[in-house]
Amino acid sequence: MLSEETKSIIKATVPVLEAHGTEITSAFYKHMFETHPELLNVFNKTNQKLGRQQTALAQTVLAAAKHIDHLEAIIPNVNQIAHKHRALEIKAEHYPIVGENLIWAIQHVLGDAATPEIVDAWTQTYGVIADVFIQMEKALYDNADWEDFKAFKVVDIKEETKDIKSFTVQPVEAMELKPVVAGQYITVKVKPLGEENTALRHYSICSINIDKGLRFAVKRDIAGEEKGLVSNYLHDEVKVGDEILLTAPAGEFLIEESDKDVVLLSGGVGMTPIMAMLQDQLSKGKKVKFIHSAYNKDAVPFKSEIASLENNEQVEFYFNYTELNGRLNKEKLAQLISGEEKVYMCGSVGFMESMLELLNDLGIAREHIHFEPFGPKMSITA
Ligand SMILES: Cc1cc2nc3c(=O)[nH]c(=O)nc-3n(C[C@H](O)[C@H](O)[C@H](O)COP(=O)(O)OP(=O)(O)OC[C@H]3O[C@@H](n4cnc5c(N)ncnc54)[C@H](O)[C@@H]3O)c2cc1C
Ligand code: HEM
Repeated sequence: MLSEETKSIIKATVPVLEAHGTEITSAFYKHMFETHPELLNVFNKTNQKLGRQQTALAQTVLAAAKHIDHLEAIIPNVNQIAHKHRALEIKAEHYPIVGENLIWAIQHVLGDAATPEIVDAWTQTYGVIADVFIQMEKALYDNADWEDFKAFKVVDIKEETKDIKSFTVQPVEAMELKPVVAGQYITVKVKPLGEENTALRHYSICSINIDKGLRFAVKRDIAGEEKGLVSNYLHDEVKVGDEILLTAPAGEFLIEESDKDVVLLSGGVGMTPIMAMLQDQLSKGKKVKFIHSAYNKDAVPFKSEIASLENNEQVEFYFNYTELNGRLNKEKLAQLISGEEKVYMCGSVGFMESMLELLNDLGIAREHIHFEPFGPKMSITA
């Protein structure tokens, strides 16, 4: 329990720390990787290099500190972060490392202004916040389909489009796969050629059918100045028969039990969890509207699965080709969505932000919208 005095020090210093947010997070990561270089195997190096995600961790600690009187307010956010942490094998023993380095960064940036009382109050408060994460993550570890990273053999690779490949993998050790929970992702650990460290990335499971193994699909990421590390490695180096390491499915982008019809809305490779959701809903006898936005017809993955559902009366397909018709806009969505459905959507952070804005303009309540951006959820601002 934190004392009232500790809480009032925290409330008084949050704005000061927020004002120095970027300095503190940069100092924090730099110092942490100097003192614990093994963590370079866990954190996304490209994010570090580009300064992305720099703020997510420290900002969340500050946001949590603001709610120190009622920490339950942060539970929905903690839940999705906890799933990602569990997927990355972040364990209770990692928390003191982050705590020590965060406190070091606060002292380093604030200098003499970081009095022993302030340092003590933040040390205690970080401990309370870390405990919320550790407890939630413990429950996820206890319920995971398997422990740690397990070796999987690639048994099939299919070229879905020019730049999307789907991979089917089976556990190397005898292990019965649990049924897929539509919407979840696995996490791949690989060591791309010439890299000093391992790299971890999440990929959504794209089929609920596990007869041949778990299936996920990867888009070759070449959007930036340098090629994406893991997606290009998977595309160029990984062949049928190779082994890769995976953690058990994770994620809270799940379809809720509801009487409402379902709209599945995706952009580009964001179709991956949406395909699993489509199969799941059809198997439960639900009606689905399936809206997908792609550059053109050739850019649409899972063509054979979609073709096999052409005459299925439970599903209504709508494809928007941006090359021909421009981006999905309010008018197009208004024709497709009545406002009575639950909307589940997935795509890039940019696609999610614009869809959230459009759905908001159409008067669809936020509680009826669920989404999974292929990036940090904290950065969704709409
Ligand atoms: C929950 C979740 C589920 C996901 N599911 C899927 C999925 O089903 N399918 C899928 O394809 N993806 C999915 N993703 C995204 C995936 O996890 C990876 O982020 C994606 O494959 C890119 O990883 P990478 O290692 O190839 O690129 P990274 O190395 O992480 O690079 C990311 C971007 O930065 C650019 N870049 C790299 N270096 C530089 C530089 N020096 N300067 C400028 N730009 C640079 C790259 O070109 C790339 O565009 C998911 C993400 C999340 C969070
Ligand atoms: C209370 C402490 C912590 C908070 C508040 C926190 C918060 C966050 C947040 C907000 C994200 C982004 C989630 C998203 O992508 O949507 C994240 C991701 C991540 N966290 Fe934590 N975290 C904490 C502790 C830790 C610890 C102890 C570790 C391991 C040492 C860790 C490792 C990671 C990694 C590897 C990612 C993925 C992002 C990347 O690789 O750049 N976190 N965390």
